[in-house]
Amino acid sequence: MSDPQPVYLSDYQPPAYRVTHTELTFDLDPAATRVKARLHIERQATASADEPLKLDGEQLTLDALLIDGNPLSGNDYQVSDEGLRIEQVPARFTLESEVQLSPKDNTALEGLYQSNGMFCTQCEAEGFRRITFYPDRPDVMSTFKVTVIGDREREPVLLANGNPVEQGDLENGRHFAIWEDPHPKPCYLFALVAGDLHSVGDRFTTRSGREVSLQLWVEQENLAKTEHAMGSLKRAMAWDEQAYGREYDLDLFMIVAVNDFNMGAMENKGLNIFNSAAVLAHPDTATDGAFQTVEGIVAHEYFHNWSGNRVTCRDWFQLSLKEGFTVFRDQCFSAETNSAPVKRIQDVSFFRTAQFAEDAGPTAHPVRPDHYIEITNFYTLTIYEKGAEIVRMLCNLVGWDAFRQGADRYFARFDGQAVTIEDFVDCMAEASGLDLGQFMRWYSQAGTPEIDAHGEYDYAHGEYHLTLRQRTPATPGQVDKEPLHIPIAMGLVGTKSGQDLALTLDGNKLGKETVIHLREDEQTFVFTDVAEAPVPSLLRNFSAPVKLHFPYSREDLAFLLTQDSDGFNRWDAGQRLAMLALDDLIAAHRNGVEKVMDSRVVEAFRTLLADAPADKAVLAEMLTLPSEAYIAEQQPIVDVDAIHAAREFVRQSLAMALRDEFMATFEANRSSEPYAPTPEQIAQRSLKNVALSYLMSIEDEQGVALCEGQFAANHNMTDVRHALTLLVHSDRDDLASPALKTFGEKWAHDPLVMDQWFTIQVSRPQPEVIDRVKYLMAHPAFSLKNPNRVRALIGAFAQNRVNFHRLDGQGYALLADVVIELNQLNPEIAARLITPLTRWQRFDETRQVLMRSELERIQREPLSSNVYEVVEKALA
Ligand code: PHE
Ligand code: ZN
Repeated sequence: MSDPQPVYLSDYQPPAYRVTHTELTFDLDPAATRVKARLHIERQATASADEPLKLDGEQLTLDALLIDGNPLSGNDYQVSDEGLRIEQVPARFTLESEVQLSPKDNTALEGLYQSNGMFCTQCEAEGFRRITFYPDRPDVMSTFKVTVIGDREREPVLLANGNPVEQGDLENGRHFAIWEDPHPKPCYLFALVAGDLHSVGDRFTTRSGREVSLQLWVEQENLAKTEHAMGSLKRAMAWDEQAYGREYDLDLFMIVAVNDFNMGAMENKGLNIFNSAAVLAHPDTATDGAFQTVEGIVAHEYFHNWSGNRVTCRDWFQLSLKEGFTVFRDQCFSAETNSAPVKRIQDVSFFRTAQFAEDAGPTAHPVRPDHYIEITNFYTLTIYEKGAEIVRMLCNLVGWDAFRQGADRYFARFDGQAVTIEDFVDCMAEASGLDLGQFMRWYSQAGTPEIDAHGEYDYAHGEYHLTLRQRTPATPGQVDKEPLHIPIAMGLVGTKSGQDLALTLDGNKLGKETVIHLREDEQTFVFTDVAEAPVPSLLRNFSAPVKLHFPYSREDLAFLLTQDSDGFNRWDAGQRLAMLALDDLIAAHRNGVEKVMDSRVVEAFRTLLADAPADKAVLAEMLTLPSEAYIAEQQPIVDVDAIHAAREFVRQSLAMALRDEFMATFEANRSSEPYAPTPEQIAQRSLKNVALSYLMSIEDEQGVALCEGQFAANHNMTDVRHALTLLVHSDRDDLASPALKTFGEKWAHDPLVMDQWFTIQVSRPQPEVIDRVKYLMAHPAFSLKNPNRVRALIGAFAQNRVNFHRLDGQGYALLADVVIELNQLNPEIAARLITPLTRWQRFDETRQVLMRSELERIQREPLSSNVYEVVEKALA
């Protein structure tokens, strides 16, 4: 077999044939589903008459093929691994085909598959070609009429996109339902679900008075876990009307929960399909974090109805057109429904850990890639999260009013079309009058820009000189980088007054906060009339996705931590301060020198606990040290053991020095109120639980008792899970074992809770965890075929830094074994699982050798194109 070949953006050609209307009939059967398609096809004016018709199709058995009712003979067409080719077709015709496929054997979870006996589909990006022969590309948009035939007993519920138009009984215990979707859509938005499902219903009246019926379909035992998702949906529908003027456009909106799903959820027109983990939530089984995730994902998929469905992508290189914009929309929505600064802190701290790592590794790619082998490998943090950061920069550059006008223009001009990133940015440029030419480089240039900043206060003239220098490191295939247009939100905080100073730049009075535009490699900004020596507060609210270096002293950082008017930068100052202390301790650990705690960090924390900021959720974030993964990102060579030891040392030093303060914080934030996922309650719980973590880090006797009490009280999953994690991660087996056992027995029937049980155990810092992973892989609740189980057990273990990176290489070997097995079952998940191994360059020589040898072992297998692409890049 030849190696998989890349597809290039520069090779894009518009389709030669369009499908104007699609009629499908599914006769469902686990092993032999029959799909009949009737496609109304037209040649494009731009295509010549001898252009062959090429349809995509994979793993299909073709049983019949007719043009305008006439069967084709074997000489008229060719079928290959990739699809069907018909040399001569009329300018306008109907093509009928009949194929057979086996949903029960589909473990890749792309196309039509079975999950817990229920039929469901996943077509993005290129899954529709596993359902029928079709031009499987997003720029072919068609209306659909779908007939679903199933077993009345086994599949009482038969769903597809759009509006239900007819249903009835058939012979032999079969029945059918017919659905019509009047909105032309690309086939990646097609969906079908059939099974023994139960629904909760609600209604939403749109601004213009359209009555929409809302349905959430789940398996019977999950009916009690639907309330939060339904509430989130209604909030999202209202928000999109208020923020973007976008209304829903069908009479029915459905969400279905399925157990086996590769991603979080999918925005199929009128019939969103969700991973059950991304939609089900109940106080007894889901944490505050899970409640917030559900709200965010429900909103995200709903928002796609406009940013993705009504206006879609011309080709998959434009993926960030819909994903970056939609993530930005869901982030703004969640910021409004929860604590806005905390939402930003959480998003950025995840981004700077995970996306920065991706951008610095061998799979780094631009937000608009120019080639790929396997598109499913490009549903990445770069496309989604960096794409959202770019849209956020656009919004900040042009201002909300122009941004909203630009969005209106975009939706109006391109409704019903498949378009490009330029089309989107052009609308913003037109609405604002701004030249966004240089800005477009954000889409084509990979890698995280680094900014070296330094400043000088000139007392004599009352001037502050701020010099910024930018550079973007080389990434694979992109050595030379050009300067980007980087918006830097900033203020100057007076060291005497503690206030933001009035800013004057080039004679212009800019108020107390401004955005400066860095466009050159190096620029100096001279602020005049600066009355006192300032500390600059740069990149406020993380105004651009860059690494900003400024030689802050620890005193500067302690000052910003309490005085900065920007909540995000107050938090960031605390993180920088902690990082300086951690750096010293990492060095001390490596050199075998005694570790000494930096008293300035202790005092900064003491101040925080004494004059607590009003927002408890922000305080909880400020009291949380940078994660081991984030610390690792800051090191030239990652020393996992030194990082772990240094971070533990800081935690324990803080806990010892501030034990009484943490105890008081814990006590002050306990509550017996009935659980609600409100911002106030969530803030209070997270602050209380941060305090408990510190107390448990020194196994404070009273702290241990409180932790056991919190676990036993069973008040809500947030508190129970947090207490369980602390008990299990302590060095005391007398605390860990009984709690694990109680929890495991209590929740054996609930797979989503068992996932948490798996994750907690395999995240322990103790070295015998590797054996626990192997033991749990044989647990009856585990299955390699279910992506959630794989992520909860194997994925979580690979995040356990000290244990995954064991010096004997056993952690790497275990991951490689799983990848090799999954490569056959579910290539998409297998390819994602490799990620930690691809980062081998970041580690010491010994680990590099071990990691590479596991990658090479994977490379010797017969590989799916998904795994092939990732491994090739990692070893290049
Ligand atoms: N388009 C989905 C989303 O972001 C993600 C997804 C991609 C789901 C591919 C399944 C397959 O909302
Ligand atoms: Zn999306």
